[in-house]
Amino acid sequence: MEQNGEQSGDSMEDLTGCVAIVTGGATGIGRAIGIKMAEVGADIVVSDIDTAACRRTATEIAAMGVRSVGISANVTDPEAVSRMVSETISQFGKINVLVNNAGVAGAPGWYDYETSREEDWAYTFGVNVKGMAIVTDAVVPHMKSAGFGKIVNLASIAGRQGRPSLPHYSATKAAVINYTQSLANELGRDNINVNAVCPGLLWTTMWEQVGAKYALANPDYEGLTPRQVFDRTVQDLMPLGREQTPEDIGDAIVFLVSEDARNITGQSLNVDGGAFLN
Ligand SMILES: NC(=O)c1ccc[n+]([C@@H]2O[C@H](COP(=O)([O-])OP(=O)(O)OC[C@H]3O[C@@H](n4cnc5c(N)ncnc54)[C@H](O)[C@@H]3O)[C@@H](O)[C@H]2O)c1
Repeated sequence: MEQNGEQSGDSMEDLTGCVAIVTGGATGIGRAIGIKMAEVGADIVVSDIDTAACRRTATEIAAMGVRSVGISANVTDPEAVSRMVSETISQFGKINVLVNNAGVAGAPGWYDYETSREEDWAYTFGVNVKGMAIVTDAVVPHMKSAGFGKIVNLASIAGRQGRPSLPHYSATKAAVINYTQSLANELGRDNINVNAVCPGLLWTTMWEQVGAKYALANPDYEGLTPRQVFDRTVQDLMPLGREQTPEDIGDAIVFLVSEDARNITGQSLNVDGGAFLN
């Protein structure tokens, strides 16, 4: 990776010497993103609202031979985020990469209700959009002063086209795609690339809840388990006919933060088996 004009390592997808923060990095897609970047040499700050889980994942990543720490922070809490960023700087001296992965599909218990509640709108926008901006605003000054940075935001195919039963969530992910474009415009002259990834369907804790909600809200899915709903949705939506994995998302992000992608900014990359063609 190029840092202040210096290239380290032989391969373009060599992140040796690079320091990356992954929010929501303890489990699911975030955990795989951290592992994939660590495989190509990056030091990883695993940040998550779940303190025990983010430390566990950091220990797992450190065992791969890179430096990794778990620093808990709720992305909606500006003070906690500021502490997390300061601790990263004091331990690692810099931040080259930010992956804004933390995301929720609704307020606690959202999947038990057929329609979106006021708290679902507020909570989901608070974490997925405002939380993303809070973390970004805390990190960007460090990237600007270094004259280099890579930011990747987690959007979704739900942000490409509104999904049934999840209007509040779909709207947040459309906002992430738009926010990514604004940031790319704003930060390009500071040599900061900003892109988004739109994952398709991945069997994580989040989708277990989505499957339960779809089964409740859609008569076609009545009596199906969340996993059966998931499998049916994959078959209905995806030309490739297969689900995506957290590792697929990690691979896409390693590319986007590598020098191979130095002239790509403001883009939202679908990793979705062809579900949405744009
Ligand atoms: N699973 C899918 O099919 C899918 C599809 C498209 C997009 N996505 C997006 O990918 C990202 C990761 O999803 P996932 O499936 O791994 O979800 P997940 O629920 O399995 O994991 C989310 C992680 O974020 C953390 N988190 C939640 N709220 C937080 C907060 N306020 N502050 C800090 N951390 C917080 C959780 O503790 C958890 O570790 C999300 O942004 C999600 O919207 C997921």
